[in-house]
Amino acid sequence: MLYTGTMTEDLFDILHNTATPPVYRYFSGGSWKESASGKTTSVYSPIDNSVVGILQVVTPKEIDDAIETACNAQREWEQTPLNQRVKIMHLVADWIRHNEQYLTDLLVMEIGKTASEAKSEIARTADLTDYFADEVQSIRGETLDSDNFPGYDKGRIAVIEHVAYGVVLSIAPFNYPVNLAASKIVPALLMGNSVVFKPPTQGGISGLHLARIFEKAGVPAGVLTCATGGGSQIGDYLVSHPKIDMIAFTGNSDTGLAIAAKAPMKQLLFECGGNNATIVFPDADMNLTVKEIVKGGFSYAGQRCTAIKYVLSTPGVLETLLPQVLETIKEMVAMGDPRQDSTKLVGPVISLATAKEIEEVILEAVKEGAVVVSGGHRRDAYIEPTILTKVKPSMNIVSKEVFGPVVSFIAVSDMDEAVRIVNSQRFGLQACVFTKDEGAGLKYAPLLNVGTVQINGSPQRGPDHFPFLGVKHSGVGVQGVRYSLEAMSRLKSVVINKPQ
Ligand code: G3H
Repeated sequence: MLYTGTMTEDLFDILHNTATPPVYRYFSGGSWKESASGKTTSVYSPIDNSVVGILQVVTPKEIDDAIETACNAQREWEQTPLNQRVKIMHLVADWIRHNEQYLTDLLVMEIGKTASEAKSEIARTADLTDYFADEVQSIRGETLDSDNFPGYDKGRIAVIEHVAYGVVLSIAPFNYPVNLAASKIVPALLMGNSVVFKPPTQGGISGLHLARIFEKAGVPAGVLTCATGGGSQIGDYLVSHPKIDMIAFTGNSDTGLAIAAKAPMKQLLFECGGNNATIVFPDADMNLTVKEIVKGGFSYAGQRCTAIKYVLSTPGVLETLLPQVLETIKEMVAMGDPRQDSTKLVGPVISLATAKEIEEVILEAVKEGAVVVSGGHRRDAYIEPTILTKVKPSMNIVSKEVFGPVVSFIAVSDMDEAVRIVNSQRFGLQACVFTKDEGAGLKYAPLLNVGTVQINGSPQRGPDHFPFLGVKHSGVGVQGVRYSLEAMSRLKSVVINKPQ
């Protein structure tokens, strides 16, 4: 079925031709263009495998042209008074809000998020954009006197400012194609960079809509490009391009490693995979813990880098916890078509192929001794909310990032063993600890080698001004409003040597 959301106006008409399904243009140098490649890639809805639209695959020459234009436009953009860049970003937020329903419907169709999750992504993106635009006004430089350092007198003063890197390549993932695009594009633009935006294939149509909103809000021609095409088709060329100064990427860790290897000496800001653990102390509030496990494990069908993937506790605690989790799944989760209000948390995963891969990993775990106590089956691109017990940390179901609605229960002899398991993993995004004794939680948190430890709450990125980071293969650098603004700029020092 072709996406037929109701358009409130003609704003987005320019994005595509009138064919069915529509072929989308790419955005470069301030215009919406047909690619000379003649190559396209279709975007299939995970709901029913219908074609939502067709993206063009841009050519290397078109990428060269876009990046050259971005380089030239950046100089003037950085000189544009900050108050004007701020005004444009507030307009972006307004345009996002104005088109909230349209963008929500599109997201549901394109990536299979439930309607409430999609709506929340759009609203969150508008709020985030406003917050960035407010926060950037408090980013300021400093001056340093030379005589603080032994052996120096007052002869020099350093004036230190935040300046742009130049051209930032922003690569967004399918699971938040609007929000995790804006979380890179907005701070990059506010700090005076120009941006080459590479949307995911699924989510690419939403990404083009976002680019159109930036254009409409007044981002000058050339400052933002939206280059479409599959990662395997245009990714290498983009990330290794000599005129890209910085790469901001969200996606899986293997892709992150491959990008880093092809982008020597470029600035990197990466949010990669996670297999976040929940550690339950015997004194935990079981009601709260159970709800957070179900929400944290199954929201957006487990397709969040912050989703809970395994639960660690002693056998006695797991025995209490498990029946309550199974009961709560019945209340909080209803798998189904994400367009229906009756569907709760679990719609389809992003594609049939991904669903088959997840099914394989579940079957493999079962072969190795795990037991399915809930779910475990696949219907087309839908994976039932699944709970496994008797899981070992070395099994792929835990040690790989399984981007689907699957939570594994692992029995440990004590909390020290739980720490060892978390710290032995390849990933280090977040972990959560449930205990009524917050003091004990605070003592325990530093032992866990992850970017963030949540005490009595499931892993999550928000609120979006909190620092968000991963260690080990989970990421490079720190995001979160102020942290992203700082990460999207470098320091430039001008030293005034006073006349002797
Ligand atoms: O998938 C990665 C996202 O950054 C997770 O964000 O915790 O708000 O769902 P979230």
